[in-house]
Amino acid sequence: MSSSDQHSSLLEIDQYIERLFVPRDPVFEQALRDATEGGLPEIHVSPNEGKLLYLLAKLSGARRVLEIGLLGGYSAIWLARAIGPKGKLVTLELDENHVRVAGKNLERAGLRSLVEIRQGAAAATLEKMVQAGEAAFDLVFIDADKNNYPVYLDYAMKLTHPGSLILGDNVIRDGKVARSGQTDPLVLGIQEFNRKLAANPKLETILITVMREALDGLAIARVKD
Ligand code: SAH
Ligand code: DHB
Ligand code: MG
Repeated sequence: MSSSDQHSSLLEIDQYIERLFVPRDPVFEQALRDATEGGLPEIHVSPNEGKLLYLLAKLSGARRVLEIGLLGGYSAIWLARAIGPKGKLVTLELDENHVRVAGKNLERAGLRSLVEIRQGAAAATLEKMVQAGEAAFDLVFIDADKNNYPVYLDYAMKLTHPGSLILGDNVIRDGKVARSGQTDPLVLGIQEFNRKLAANPKLETILITVMREALDGLAIARVKD
């Protein structure tokens, strides 16, 4: 099979899964429209990956969730819906315009009171959180600047407890991560992140592929007991 045939059949399968298991939802549709109107890049997780994040949060019984990389709030809506009315989602975002658009989207979704948005460079915010003795999170979703993923993993280890989940988006990058000699700093950052996950004796980890415009992936790590 040619790689373009392979791509279209993966896309067809992704759409099939979405039709069956991710029913249309005006909250998400309006959130994506507002993000586009606000000039945000269309780099949110796919609907199927959103449903997967939601299920992982529910399956693990997560109540306190940390997201690194909010964008327009698409993945945040999925996560906030999973944590229950007493849950808390803390989400970190550098860009003021993204914070503004996401704030409105979370408000419209009826989730704003569960979500605390912290604006600024995530590494600096995370350092402050560690220094302040922030309570541990049950689930951390890493989805901001790829070159800093290794740094975010170090902070995630400090801000979690045995049994917590650490998730990382975009860990396959169309298969580029599997090839040596890469020069794109984003791919190099992800490769280092994946190696760090694999080498960490405190984590049990797997990567799964996720279909987007190209094949990408999600890292799923559990902090050992
Ligand atoms: N999780 C979102 C997508 C996040 S896209 C979703 O699926 O809906 C990545 C986001 O990380 C962008 O909004 C970008 O502004 C933000 N970002 C990039 N560098 C950052 C940094 N250093 N600190 C915090 N956020 C950053
Ligand atoms: C891209 C996709 C993402 O999910 C992300 O977090 C950042 C960038 C992209 O396809 O460029
Ligand atoms: Mg992403």
